[in-house]
Amino acid sequence: MNSILNNRPELAREVNKVAETAGYLWEKGWAERNGGNITINITEWVDDEIRQMPAISEVYPIGATLPYLKGCYFFCKGNNRRMRDLARWPMENGSVIRILDDCASYVIIADNPVKPTSELPSHLSVHNDLLSKGSPYRASLHTHPIELVAMSHNPKYLEKDVATRLLWSMIPETKAFCPRGLGIVPYILPGSVELANATIAELADYDVVMWEKHGVFAVDVDVMLAFDQVDVLNKSAQIYIASKNMGFEPEGMSDEQMKEMSVVFKLPK
Ligand code: 13P
Ligand code: ZN
Repeated sequence: MNSILNNRPELAREVNKVAETAGYLWEKGWAERNGGNITINITEWVDDEIRQMPAISEVYPIGATLPYLKGCYFFCKGNNRRMRDLARWPMENGSVIRILDDCASYVIIADNPVKPTSELPSHLSVHNDLLSKGSPYRASLHTHPIELVAMSHNPKYLEKDVATRLLWSMIPETKAFCPRGLGIVPYILPGSVELANATIAELADYDVVMWEKHGVFAVDVDVMLAFDQVDVLNKSAQIYIASKNMGFEPEGMSDEQMKEMSVVFKLPK
């Protein structure tokens, strides 16, 4: 089949990382039906031939004007598409889009006219913000991790850094591999520009943010690393819940043990 990935090994490698991650999300039970979405900024792997490719869709509005995305390209999970299908057939369940020169609209260019995820306003606003800050991050991931979402149903875990401190203290690796912690975005309608703006604001201080009673949104250099950050946080949530199920409040690492970790691992917080 003629695909934009043919003879483009670097682009194919990045899309394959999305497919591999989509499989993990399904296996973990975090991706019921079409739940969750992934976008990656692929602009650095786009050649002149791709830049000449015609649109295969109408022009769609983004809903926001995002100046740093002018002429950028993204691979996006499709709206209403399943992660378990994206895992096996990424180019049939996702598409490559080009941001147009008005920075407020896009077209689909390959392989199929699969309309991108309904959370595109959040994903693209975040990518715009990352580029404006010179960040090396090129991937954003939204998923529905069971235990973290469960915690977001209790207001005490929505207070600033309460969940972060608790999750960090469950197992040393969580702070080491999610060193900026878990930000909190109060419940906002999925797919809205308001949710996008609240997400950007919180990502100034965190790499992973909780969307109250919905899921998490994570960013990193690539999609595997974004997934890893959510995975270590959710593992801690599982340890916390397992302790509670055994009938006790887990002790957690002490402040001193956490401080020692931060010094040795040179962590930012
Ligand atoms: P999409 O199918 O549009 O990606 O939506 C899934 C989702 O999780 C919305 O928050
Ligand atoms: Zn969702």
